[in-house]
Amino acid sequence: MIAAIIYNSATGSCKRYADELSRQLHLPSYPLGSAPTRADGELIYVSWIMAGAIVGWKKAKKSGAIAAVVAVGMAPPSEKTAAAIRAKAAIPSQVPVFVLQGGFHLEKLPAPMKLIMKWKVKDIAKQLEAKKAKAPLNAQEQALWKMVRSGSGEPASWDASPVVDWVLNKYRFENALRQKD
Ligand SMILES: Cc1cc2nc3c(=O)[nH]c(=O)nc-3n(C[C@H](O)[C@H](O)[C@H](O)COP(=O)(O)O)c2cc1C
Repeated sequence: MIAAIIYNSATGSCKRYADELSRQLHLPSYPLGSAPTRADGELIYVSWIMAGAIVGWKKAKKSGAIAAVVAVGMAPPSEKTAAAIRAKAAIPSQVPVFVLQGGFHLEKLPAPMKLIMKWKVKDIAKQLEAKKAKAPLNAQEQALWKMVRSGSGEPASWDASPVVDWVLNKYRFENALRQKD
């Protein structure tokens, strides 16, 4: 059974997803490192993507057994991103990695990160501009376009349903197994 959600958030997106999961799944959620005791049961770890890697994974693993990872980034989610995050952190194959789009807020970042991202957003804007010239951007790309052009923006949606559905299916499966015993 999943006991809690732990999250790591620099500018609020992961907290928002953790709050949403907590509300929909009736589970407590705690910032990474602040869970009252080592949780009895499995955890969902929600954290943000920095340079293609999930932030805080080593510390999260020490908090308990991680059942699923939710990686939040500004880019449109893809299978490729999920696979890269799994490979970089050596996340075991039985632990699903969900990638969700979060927001981006340059003004909320600490100074060194702000500096890096001031340059990075220019690169991303160029890539999107080239893409836009060939075909219309989808909703998640448009959201990213706004983020990189203005330095701040929200994702196309705050949809946590892939994670919620996975947890509910896991519960159903575990209950069915218990009834069989
Ligand atoms: C230094 C830095 C590097 C980032 N690298 C990536 C990245 O590789 N891929 C991505 O999709 N988003 C990247 N982002 C964007 C964040 O993952 C995104 O804004 C996320 O929603 C932040 O979550 P938070 O609001 O909970 O901190 C980066 C942000 C910063 C500050």
